[in-house]
Amino acid sequence: MKKDDTSLELEKIVLQAEDFLPLLGTDYIEIYVGNAKQAAHYYQTAFGFQPLAYAGLETGMTDRASYVLRQEKITIVLTSPLNSDSVINEHIKNHGDGVKVLAIWVDDAAKSWKETTSRGGKSCLEPEEINDAHGVVKRSGIHTYGETLHYFIERKNYSGVFLPGYIEWNPAYKPASLGLKFVDHIVGNVGWNEMDKWCEFYAKVMGFAQLVSFDDKDISTEYTALMSKVMSNGNGRIKFPINEPAEGRKKSQIEEYIDFYNGAGVQHIALSTDNIIETVKALKSRGVEFLIIPAIYYDTVLDRVGEIDEDLEPLKELGILIDRDEEGYLLQIFTKPILDRPTMFFEIIQRKGAQSFGKGNFKALFEAIEREQGLRGTL
Ligand code: FE2
Repeated sequence: MKKDDTSLELEKIVLQAEDFLPLLGTDYIEIYVGNAKQAAHYYQTAFGFQPLAYAGLETGMTDRASYVLRQEKITIVLTSPLNSDSVINEHIKNHGDGVKVLAIWVDDAAKSWKETTSRGGKSCLEPEEINDAHGVVKRSGIHTYGETLHYFIERKNYSGVFLPGYIEWNPAYKPASLGLKFVDHIVGNVGWNEMDKWCEFYAKVMGFAQLVSFDDKDISTEYTALMSKVMSNGNGRIKFPINEPAEGRKKSQIEEYIDFYNGAGVQHIALSTDNIIETVKALKSRGVEFLIIPAIYYDTVLDRVGEIDEDLEPLKELGILIDRDEEGYLLQIFTKPILDRPTMFFEIIQRKGAQSFGKGNFKALFEAIEREQGLRGTL
């Protein structure tokens, strides 16, 4: 199915997705980092995340320190090892900073584990209960691509600030939020010819349905190519596009990612806003760097997407991209990698009806990425 059919097909897909695994939404995203204390400062300062919870030596956690930050419905956990024996070191050594856990909010963690492992999911955490004075959290987990994990979090009987073991983190330093609302989608990069395997995993093990597929004809420039399929759960709250490299004259950005991440992993996290112009202005003023789109893109974009509510000028000034499908349009922009390794980045997206992923922008976008690859000498 091509993107153009996406919106029309969405309802059908939602019915096709199986409901043996009802998922309520993204619970949190845990990123293993070299220095969580400093990374937390970056997520606060640059992205406007608010301090929420902390665990570390002061709370009896002896092998790691974790800072939990939140903006509306987006929760990010930054974790660093406290000693050289910690397994977290291995993850950082192999991948640099990177997403370790995509935690999903569920009604029943034990059932989620049973349903997924009985369908071939590989367990990484058998159902367990953790508790403190604020109640009990049940959780379980399975492996997904690379060294990434899915945790199922059941928190209906818990009233604490985050999870048992965490205390409230309430520093005086709190730069304002920037209007980021929720996780729109989380994209995984996998190796050559592995896309179908992982899409099948999401279909078979997690009951997801394929929302849309892009082949190398959709996503190629003069030099590079990639392929992508978008998997969605039944209620559409969880969308996981999966990318793999495709043959081109030069090295695909996906291959570059796999080289530097040393395997499959999370490529980008798309965060939703209700006002992309204000959000991106603020992100830029806080030092976040975005891919630069050539001014020529804006000469013809309205011929392609038709009328939009926003003035074109601020979109052009900020480098925000526009695309349209049958149900409406969307505005999106991509940060440069947020690490020294060219691996993870963020997308900021505002949907105005459109349910698709910006296919009309792929060429301009990937040419912008190629220019960056050229500067890195990895094209
Ligand atoms: Fe995206």
